[in-house]
Amino acid sequence: MTVMKQQSSKAGSFTFYGVQYSRFGSRLAAEVRLEAYGEDLGQQGWRSLDEQVEIIGLVQESPQGKLLDVACGSGGPSIAIAAATGCRLTGVDIEEAAIEHARALAAAAHLPLGATFVVADCSEQLPFDREEFDVVSCIDAIIHLASRREVFADWFRLLRPGGRLILTDACVLTGIVSKEELDIRASQGKFHIVPAAFNELMLERAGFELRLCRDTTEAVSNLALRLYHARESRRCAMLEEEGVGWFENRQAFLKTTAELAVTGRLSRFLYVAEKPIHT
Ligand SMILES: C[S@@+](CC[C@H](N)C(=O)[O-])C[C@H]1O[C@@H](n2cnc3c(N)ncnc32)[C@H](O)[C@@H]1O
Repeated sequence: MTVMKQQSSKAGSFTFYGVQYSRFGSRLAAEVRLEAYGEDLGQQGWRSLDEQVEIIGLVQESPQGKLLDVACGSGGPSIAIAAATGCRLTGVDIEEAAIEHARALAAAAHLPLGATFVVADCSEQLPFDREEFDVVSCIDAIIHLASRREVFADWFRLLRPGGRLILTDACVLTGIVSKEELDIRASQGKFHIVPAAFNELMLERAGFELRLCRDTTEAVSNLALRLYHARESRRCAMLEEEGVGWFENRQAFLKTTAELAVTGRLSRFLYVAEKPIHT
């Protein structure tokens, strides 16, 4: 049986993403993503294909614009957005293995305006100029960034007037969660839960105008269960690839995530906000 490969990761004391990205390109991992999501874009998280189409529509309204994808992961979803919209893509993630993967994908995609991928800690001020971007997106990663105040202020700085923020938060507290459940759900490195309506308030305080706030919790329960079953049906091969401890922890994570979503206790929201033209 393969011994789980440990890698250093800057995303938290636990090495979840570093290890996850180190085997992201495996045939088995790709098969699981294909079965769970319906198309393997290299997604991590709770972005359904319908939501991907919706995000493409939102980016398309800034034709030939510049998109910054914060905590872009493998880069696959944002490269697909750039291919569909013709935007100029910049992706940032803290994990070197993710950025390496993204650079290789982008080279193969031959995007008309190209793409740049940078390793950076997105909880700090990002190394880009004021008003450099038309769209900033951050999908299922805000939970890893500690300060909404500082992060939203930086995204506001980076957007041009009239520019748009597309954000999802998969951990908005909307019910009672036990410590045992939280220990499992929060097992992927740094983790920050916020109460309902907190993101809206902080976006407003940063200067954004909220255009959309939609509960997308159903996607979490659907995708967590689909991932759970896709992995379970390949149990032997997954155990070989991941090792027993990792496999079982991940299954417990997916089961608990689905349970918290189905019962509406931990919710996911999609926010679209704009930087006013006159600030
Ligand atoms: C659930 S994944 C989402 C990836 C991608 N946005 C997607 O939709 O597939 C969360 C991502 O956040 C990244 N991350 C965690 N902490 C970070 C930080 N402080 N700065 C930048 N990226 C971070 C992880 O490496 C991981 O790629």
